[in-house]
Amino acid sequence: MSGASLAATTATPAQTEELGARLAARLVPGDLIALRGPLGAGKTVFVRGLAAGRGVDPALVRSPTFVLHHVYGSPPRLHHLDLYRLGPAADIALLDLDSLLDTAPAAVEWGDHGDLSPWNPLRLSIEIVPAGRRVEALSPDLAPERLVRAFREALDP
Ligand SMILES: Nc1ncnc2c1ncn2[C@@H]1O[C@H](COP(=O)(O)OP(=O)(O)O)[C@@H](O)[C@H]1O
Ligand SMILES: [Mg+2]
Repeated sequence: MSGASLAATTATPAQTEELGARLAARLVPGDLIALRGPLGAGKTVFVRGLAAGRGVDPALVRSPTFVLHHVYGSPPRLHHLDLYRLGPAADIALLDLDSLLDTAPAAVEWGDHGDLSPWNPLRLSIEIVPAGRRVEALSPDLAPERLVRAFREALDP
């Protein structure tokens, strides 16, 4: 990837949600967003924004740490998964991602706990920095070009 890094620093949770919402407006079924970052980084906050951008009430969004999977909307508008409980070598085959992605885009917290590469994710890292949170696309050259473009447009609306 040449040029500037694909990243933004958000000063508040609302700004992180807005970034998620702008990305989500450009997502379609089949699209996978893998989120990494420490506990409290803002992965769930970002997914709240994704939900809002997909026309789902963001108040419905809760970290699915104990259930692995939430689906928002009926028919599904967004799938929300969290691999934390599966540990660092999560068996992704458990999740039936193919079926989920047929119906809606999906966001996966702790996406680095499993090998999501067969589903071509856009990988986003959320880091805690003094100014707030830095949200950055990791290895964008490995992600689908359409998703990279969607994120770039979300960064610079
Ligand atoms: N710029 C920011 N973006 C996102 N969250 C922020 C920001 N600044 C502070 N926070 C706080 O950080 C926490 C993030 O929590 P959460 O989204 O549940 O993290 P994770 O899902 O990564 O464990 C929330 O309490 C939120 O209010
Ligand atoms: Mg979370």
